[in-house]
Amino acid sequence: MKTILIAGGSGQIGIYLGERLIEKGYRVSILSRRKIYFDKIQTYLWDVEKGEIDEEAIRTADYIINLSGANIGEKRWCSKRKNEILRSRVDSNKLLFEKVKLLNKSLDAFITASAVGYYGMQTSEKIYSENDIPSNDFLGTVCRKWEEESNLFETLGIRTIKIRTGVVFNKGIGALSKMMMPIKIYIGSPLGSGKQIVPWIHIDDLCNIYIKAIEDYQMNGAYNAVAPVNITNKELTIEIAKQLNRPLFLPKVPSFMLKILLGEMSKIVLEGSMVSSEKISKKGFVFLYKNIKNALDDLIGLEL
Ligand SMILES: NC(=O)c1ccc[n+]([C@@H]2O[C@H](COP(=O)([O-])OP(=O)(O)OC[C@H]3O[C@@H](n4cnc5c(N)ncnc54)[C@H](OP(=O)(O)O)[C@@H]3O)[C@@H](O)[C@H]2O)c1
Repeated sequence: MKTILIAGGSGQIGIYLGERLIEKGYRVSILSRRKIYFDKIQTYLWDVEKGEIDEEAIRTADYIINLSGANIGEKRWCSKRKNEILRSRVDSNKLLFEKVKLLNKSLDAFITASAVGYYGMQTSEKIYSENDIPSNDFLGTVCRKWEEESNLFETLGIRTIKIRTGVVFNKGIGALSKMMMPIKIYIGSPLGSGKQIVPWIHIDDLCNIYIKAIEDYQMNGAYNAVAPVNITNKELTIEIAKQLNRPLFLPKVPSFMLKILLGEMSKIVLEGSMVSSEKISKKGFVFLYKNIKNALDDLIGLEL
């Protein structure tokens, strides 16, 4: 039985992915900054800032997935927070690499989360694919440095995969719940121009991409993890409202208000790029949820 170590496995994606991996017959362990208990999952401690890690976590792992990172949508992006967002990702990959190297540990693969923020947040006609260069805005820089650190695993001959993730839609948690909240209480409306793309992915499809990255030895390098059918913020708002059976009668939320409220972080809701999933599809990956209607039927439909 192969062991998958998920660093940052206590978060939105990690908990779900861990369960799916156990169902598939893998042993799962996680690295966390806290002592937490999950059924059937061994938790090891680490402290990224201090560069400390329980070496047993590395010794017992066949694969490492790194999902750790300070949440980008939780707090305003003051310079301290921006540094935390960057360091928690770059330094966690660095610490994992240093320990794997020190222990001379052979791994079947190293898989790191990255984000579609790699390409920058631009509302335009361009469709970004894995060969495009990183943006030089804050998130583009974070993603570039995050991925560069993971590339060090390749120098050890370890297959390395970077999952450039879109906005993950899950049941009762994360971005979709936040979008549903105002609509539920009759104050929902599109944000800013409403034309910005929301490069989304259903949690089941994302987990299946991670599982494919584990099991498909041909996979290497960066892959976009976004649904094949792109949607704008306005179209998404309308679809959520339909699912919730709520009217949308308010005007769009003006961009300037969100800029005042959220500061630089407003970019993640006011702008958005079209991103292609062609590369992963060409590798034989089949999405369960290609369009937003099917995804919302599954994620919201059950809630009603
Ligand atoms: N969810 C999305 O829509 C989305 C979209 C694109 C990319 N991603 C990326 O995918 C990864 C996983 O996402 P997620 O939604 O599961 O994230 P999450 O729920 O915010 O959880 C990430 C985990 O990172 C750890 N963490 C938080 N702050 C940290 C810090 N300062 N230093 C070290 N570790 C820290 C936490 O684990 P402990 O508290 O147990 O240590 C947390 O459970 C993240 O890197 C995220 O950027 C997510």
